[in-house]
Amino acid sequence: MSAGYSVFLTGATGFVGGTILHCLSKTHPDIHIKALIRQEEVAKELESVYPNLTAVIGDLSLLPLLRRTAAEVDFVIHAGGDNVPAVCVMIEGLARNTDNATTVSPRPRLISITGPRSLIDLSKPITGNLDPGSRPWSDITDAEKILSVPEDRIHADADQAIIAHSIARGVGTILASPGQLWGRGKGHLKKERHSAFYYAAVKNRGRAFVVGEGTATWSWTSIGDLGDAAVFLMDQSMSEGTQGHVGVNRDGYYFVSTGDLSMIERAKAVSERLGLTGDVESISAAAAKEIYPFGHIMWGCGERTRADKLAELGWKPKDTNWKALMEEHGGERA
Ligand SMILES: NC(=O)c1ccc[n+]([C@@H]2O[C@H](COP(=O)([O-])OP(=O)(O)OC[C@H]3O[C@@H](n4cnc5c(N)ncnc54)[C@H](OP(=O)(O)O)[C@@H]3O)[C@@H](O)[C@H]2O)c1
Repeated sequence: MSAGYSVFLTGATGFVGGTILHCLSKTHPDIHIKALIRQEEVAKELESVYPNLTAVIGDLSLLPLLRRTAAEVDFVIHAGGDNVPAVCVMIEGLARNTDNATTVSPRPRLISITGPRSLIDLSKPITGNLDPGSRPWSDITDAEKILSVPEDRIHADADQAIIAHSIARGVGTILASPGQLWGRGKGHLKKERHSAFYYAAVKNRGRAFVVGEGTATWSWTSIGDLGDAAVFLMDQSMSEGTQGHVGVNRDGYYFVSTGDLSMIERAKAVSERLGLTGDVESISAAAAKEIYPFGHIMWGCGERTRADKLAELGWKPKDTNWKALMEEHGGERA
């Protein structure tokens, strides 16, 4: 299906975008990828690694460049973080070359990477404990609720503005939402991200820690499976005769998740790996924030998510063993 297709990718130098670039190139060596890259030297390096990549030198503030480039391609994948003006002009660029701007369920043309932190209600105190009344979120049965959370939550304003603009312009947008990402990045440049911070923090303290009882639980997926899911969603979107099959816009929020993992399980696993003696320490949310600016959210909160929409399309994660992902490549992550 991919011969002659072109994709515009942002965030290609990052952990997530780098992995998506790797997965795209591996699965579809014939796809032409335009990647937004800030630095000339980095652009040359990535062009030498990926023969199907052409760098577009610039950043996400160059709105005319983004609009123009999106108008030249078949599909856009945004992995450059929450940036409403940038994503909205890429939607406008896609609207120019779309053949179905007036249909009720337009063909998906853009995937934007977001995250389930929008589900956390930070007006409530962070306890570090799993709320016994909580249940996992489904991206099918809770779809409307997920896109209606208060806009002052992390990611929520961007998610909602992007979907509203997509609807207004008749462009099909998918929001792909992974929870915790496990394993080593597959991209050429950035190999590690948040799980390396917890490992480093435990190593520095000489003791594993949790907020409260540490029963707060995030759903997780491997970084490789996230890259695979993004390519899968793009492939499904670009396949002939599947219009309406892949949900978009208000039906276009997709969790990418594999399993659930509580903080206490992580803490015990890293403690064992580092050969630390002593029990896991319980700290306050404020202390976690002092260790790392988002520590209270990453280690003190949790939301369980179910990738029901991807399952319905036939996608399954491949990496199901979080401990193996923790330990791969000498694994300084937890
Ligand atoms: N990592 C996770 O655990 C995780 C989990 C769930 C969701 N997500 C979401 O995934 C997305 C990507 O996260 P990440 O972990 O891959 O972050 P990252 O490693 O920091 O990568 C960010 C990428 O965006 C690019 N970028 C940022 N600002 C830019 C700008 N103004 N102009 C051009 N490029 C810009 C960076 O380019 P430079 O290299 O030039 O800085 C880099 O390529 C985010 O939306 C994040 O919320 C991540």
